[in-house]
Amino acid sequence: MGKEERKVTKVSQEEIARQYQFIDEIKELNYQKEMKTEKKKHYYLATFGCQMNEHDSEKLAGMLNEMGYVEGTIMEESDLIIYNTCCVRENAELKVYGHLGTMKQIKNKNPDLIIAVCGCMMQQPQVVEHIRKVYRHVDLIFGTHNLYKFPELLFNAISSDKAVVEIMDTIGLIAEDVPVERKDGVKAWVTVMYGCNNFCSYCIVPYVRGRERSRKLDKVVNEVALLGQKGIKEITLLGQNVNSYGKDLGDDITFAKLLTELNKVEGIERIRFMTSHPKDLSDELIYAMRDLDKLCEHLHLPFQSGSTRILKEMNRKYSKEDYLKLVEKVKRTIPGISLTTDIIVGFPGETEEDFEETLDLLEKVRFDQAYTFLYSKRTGTPAAKNVEQITEEVKKERFQRLLEVQNRISNEINRNFINKKFEVLVEGKSKNNDKIYTGRTRENKIVNFEGNDQMIGKLVMVNVDTIKTWSLEGILA
Ligand code: 5AD
Ligand code: SF4
Repeated sequence: MGKEERKVTKVSQEEIARQYQFIDEIKELNYQKEMKTEKKKHYYLATFGCQMNEHDSEKLAGMLNEMGYVEGTIMEESDLIIYNTCCVRENAELKVYGHLGTMKQIKNKNPDLIIAVCGCMMQQPQVVEHIRKVYRHVDLIFGTHNLYKFPELLFNAISSDKAVVEIMDTIGLIAEDVPVERKDGVKAWVTVMYGCNNFCSYCIVPYVRGRERSRKLDKVVNEVALLGQKGIKEITLLGQNVNSYGKDLGDDITFAKLLTELNKVEGIERIRFMTSHPKDLSDELIYAMRDLDKLCEHLHLPFQSGSTRILKEMNRKYSKEDYLKLVEKVKRTIPGISLTTDIIVGFPGETEEDFEETLDLLEKVRFDQAYTFLYSKRTGTPAAKNVEQITEEVKKERFQRLLEVQNRISNEINRNFINKKFEVLVEGKSKNNDKIYTGRTRENKIVNFEGNDQMIGKLVMVNVDTIKTWSLEGILA
């Protein structure tokens, strides 16, 4: 797990074409089976973790569709089950092991079933070893770096009795032109960069997702232009640290320059991005957020801890004061901006005083929303070796106090939305009520209101009249 520089290589056109051949081979196999059974082949895909993983699953679904599979909702009746895993916190890993355990009976009943596991968890050698030893009914294991090879690996798994295991080391590969299945017709995720170079001392991501590598600017712009033509209205640019975009491309390309280009794309009405590291949030980006009309007034800026001492231990490279100054600048430059953040409670060595600094930062910044996590020990990270681990009891008690403070603040902020008019991009029907439609404001607040199908994908104005814990309600203005 070194930090050595690696060369970024684009996956060749020939290699992608080779994968399309495997797609065709599987399509033929599926077609033959379908003729006999008069039943389409179904896949069941479960995704854990962040938007990056969700987007990787859209690529898996894109490839599966091309192979002639259709998505199923009943796991037991599927021909192929895939778990796209996350390893950022232990809970997500434990859930996957639980699912794999129950898979055994399903496989016993249906020996033709193919069970695949992929994603971040598989980039850890000890995990792969464990799965091979304990869950012998798993047919296919692959990682994050060879996702584009899924057709070939699946073909091998279908054609062989033995488990197929292929994990690539964290080499900086970028695969373009992989089919993507986007179910949402209004919003889309677009990856701008992969990997992370920051090595925060608690975090496993740099080890499993590799070093930072940016997609070429024209590739991103072309993808967004195509999405605009297809009727997508909102894009969210993804990267572990989007503010580093372009550093590896040369030609003075920066994230702000990419945003300037994307702002010109026809059809796209709104642009969002995540995640930003406070140490890299440049003035150029702050001004771009102020000046580019399509960039939404929302910034996700994880601070992790309010204690400068803990931030140092976390290798975050900013102090509490730096963070407060930065937020002050952001708020001053972009009035009305909505701020969200990530916080870890119970990092090794965190004292009551350190934790109170976190609460103090919450009160000072007043985030719209905070995603709070109990520190989770990740094998291979420096913090996992720290002997001052905090007990679960203390972590949970602090977590609770944090939630109480944040819920109060979120509520107070949302109250300011009442009796005001907001531009809402309508995403679709609400799950619980047929007449109610749901969308988001530019600040990323969910708004529910009475509407109709014609409004989906359109911008409407809504007068907010009620606040709920996670959403706002209103009537069309
Ligand atoms: N334990 C708890 N939370 C973590 N995160 C990353 N690693 C860990 C860990 N080991 C959180 C950080 C990050 C978010 C995506 O997950 O807050 O911003
Ligand atoms: Fe993990 Fe830190 Fe990189 Fe975010 S910036 S992915 S927390 S190492």
